[in-house]
Amino acid sequence: MARLRIIDLLQKSPSDDVITVSAWVRTFRNNQFIALNDGSTNNNLQAVVDFTTTPESILKRITSRAAVPVSGHLVPSQGAGQTVELKASAVEILGDSDPEKYPLQPKKHSLEFLREIAHLRFRTNTFGAVFRVRNALAFAVHSFFQERGFLYMHTPIITNSDAEGAGEMFRVTTLDMDNPPRNEAGKVDFSKDFFAKSTNLTVSGQLEGELAAMAFSNIYTFGPTFRAENSNTARHLAEFWMIEPEMAFYELADNMDLAEEMLQYVIAYALKHNAEDIDFLSKRLQEEEKQKPQNERSEMTLTEKLQFCLNNKFERVTYTQAIEILRESNHNKKKKFQYLVDKWGVDLQSEHERYLVEKHFKKPVILIDYPREIKSFYMRQNDDGKTVAAMDILFPGIGEIIGGSQREERLEKLVQRMEEVGVPVDEMSWYLDTRRFGSCPHAGFGLGFERLVLFVTGMTNIRDVIAFPRTPGKCEF
Ligand code: 4AD
Ligand code: MG
Repeated sequence: MARLRIIDLLQKSPSDDVITVSAWVRTFRNNQFIALNDGSTNNNLQAVVDFTTTPESILKRITSRAAVPVSGHLVPSQGAGQTVELKASAVEILGDSDPEKYPLQPKKHSLEFLREIAHLRFRTNTFGAVFRVRNALAFAVHSFFQERGFLYMHTPIITNSDAEGAGEMFRVTTLDMDNPPRNEAGKVDFSKDFFAKSTNLTVSGQLEGELAAMAFSNIYTFGPTFRAENSNTARHLAEFWMIEPEMAFYELADNMDLAEEMLQYVIAYALKHNAEDIDFLSKRLQEEEKQKPQNERSEMTLTEKLQFCLNNKFERVTYTQAIEILRESNHNKKKKFQYLVDKWGVDLQSEHERYLVEKHFKKPVILIDYPREIKSFYMRQNDDGKTVAAMDILFPGIGEIIGGSQREERLEKLVQRMEEVGVPVDEMSWYLDTRRFGSCPHAGFGLGFERLVLFVTGMTNIRDVIAFPRTPGKCEF
């Protein structure tokens, strides 16, 4: 028999047909009313049991989180907020849940506490909503690219290159850590390792994505990436999911258009398909914000913020313009930034990104043309000799949500830049072949999936939008 989902049952009309609903008990009131939940929605189906005919031995086992198939038929509901309820004729207990020992009590728990029991937090309303929205966003990402003829590509997880050149890699090895083989110079001899060379978990699928784009024109990746950066912030994970489209015959402006269109598409998709969850999360956030002083509360609700992103073009600004704005800002003059903006060329901190988005432009911003010194080797060099055709998309409450660029398609310029920053040209010969044989202008970007989920759910810590977060010092479950 096909399992009946509560989200569908709540839409049904009363009927004499006997059905069985398999779900878990949320609450059991007055020895009579069971709130049933199966995770298809935060809304519960109320089942009404007849305590005069149901054995006492069963009634006392209807506890929070017990797994209970309930049989009966749908009748008009007396209670508010639902049109039908299940008039139960039989209740079975498949799995008991001892209320004395069950860690989730029917009360509000802090997100910090729930993080410690991440294996159980899916069962709460907040995380139910978050993970359904996450699911919808992943689907929307695929729809967006598939509708446009992009080829979904799986890039390797284990690599021997550092795509970002930032040296933030997790090593992959099978060598005996207590007694590794050494070469004559006394260094660990990775030629004896599993892959006969030093390998690491990928920090980005971009380089392999570029290879495929040079054949399929438009591709995207959607996979896990790993960064051993010691950033213990609410926006960094050591393991996160990234979407990386790469397009042949695209220049920076095309890249920006695509990124903006994609973000608006996936946000609109979630607003349409997960209206109830987003509404729940919006109210949750409003409650949360009441704890804050008035001047720190956001001016818009979550739903309004998402709508706002759909209805407004993102502001496109050069790095140079942004530095001017920041340098001249009262925030800078009154030394309210932790890192003061004093000269052209400095990297922007998240406090600066957020100032531009939240205080100055008050909308998403696409920052372009960064100094080449603070960006990766593969970015296309602009004619001014100082900047590269980079783009970062900055979102309210998040800061950088997308990083991308037009790529350097000119072989000599790319090799020269690799040599300058110490990227091994010989080992990367495969990458350079794209520039040797049929090179063309191309561009791409990376969307941090958890940062997107963070934005759409209005959660404030990235650890709360991935099931089992990996962060410095933490790798549970
Ligand atoms: O800006 P990043 O480092 O760019 C790249 O990796 C390029 N290869 C992308 C490309 O052009 N194909 O990372 C891209 C995005 C960031 O904007 C951010 O949203 C996310 O990935 N990101 C992280 N998300 C969570 N935790 C981290 N430690 C992250 N590092 C980057
Ligand atoms: Mg970046």
